[in-house]
Amino acid sequence: MKLIEVRHVTKTYAGAGEDVTPLDDLSFEVADGDFVALMGPSGSGKTTLLNLMAGIDQPTRGDVVVGGETISSLKPRALARWRTRNLGFVFQGYNLVPVLTAWENVELPLLLLDLKRPQRARRVEVALAAVDLADRAHHLPRQLSGGQQQRASIARAIVANPVVLLADEPTGNLDRKAATATLTLLRRLNAEFGNTIVMVTHDPVAAEAARRVVHLDKGHIIDEEKTTHA
Ligand SMILES: Nc1ncnc2c1ncn2[C@@H]1O[C@H](COP(=O)(O)OP(=O)(O)OP(=O)(O)O)[C@@H](O)[C@H]1O
Ligand SMILES: [Mg+2]
Repeated sequence: MKLIEVRHVTKTYAGAGEDVTPLDDLSFEVADGDFVALMGPSGSGKTTLLNLMAGIDQPTRGDVVVGGETISSLKPRALARWRTRNLGFVFQGYNLVPVLTAWENVELPLLLLDLKRPQRARRVEVALAAVDLADRAHHLPRQLSGGQQQRASIARAIVANPVVLLADEPTGNLDRKAATATLTLLRRLNAEFGNTIVMVTHDPVAAEAARRVVHLDKGHIIDEEKTTHA
């Protein structure tokens, strides 16, 4: 079943100088339960595509449909509600709130849901345990290593049990050991918990964790291959 459909999407940024069109009539589908690695040179439109699939940005032309919902035409409030219930996003720079502990950062998305405090606490515990960060729950981001911050940002992305997990270079700033741990976690989320994942990466080793690798260049899909996990 198709979970994500990017239909003939064009994205143009109109700036002070020349317009930039990072995506040009791009169509792309992700099946329910798939794990896709998105690769391509710097500036090829990977983050732009991820942001459109998250409803963080809107296409200039075309539609983005996720789970039957045309998110590219939702109003801001409905989009925010949809995102909380359906989507987890792992930002490349972690984007943790510096004055909140790991626990509080992970709890944040749950405050938008209708949950009682004990229910929230239970979910935060489970998410922190899943990323092996229970013993650092009450540390602030600056008291965590880069790899631990990355794991806290993954816990935050999965705490509301999202259908779709989008990750922008989740191993980009990690050493090989921390990267391997993160990739193992993403594989488990996909294989055991059924999360559908789209991960942007520059690293061919990281891409091997996915089931499918899609290569983007100048806003077009130029190649696609299956991995050993397909
Ligand atoms: N908000 C914006 N306004 C204007 N141009 C933008 C904006 N966001 C991205 N671009 C341009 O769109 C193009 C694609 O950017 P994008 O961030 O999607 O690339 P990328 O494939 O993620 O690259 P990288 O691997 O370096 O992260 C680039 O030329 C970039 O400068
Ligand atoms: Mg990018």
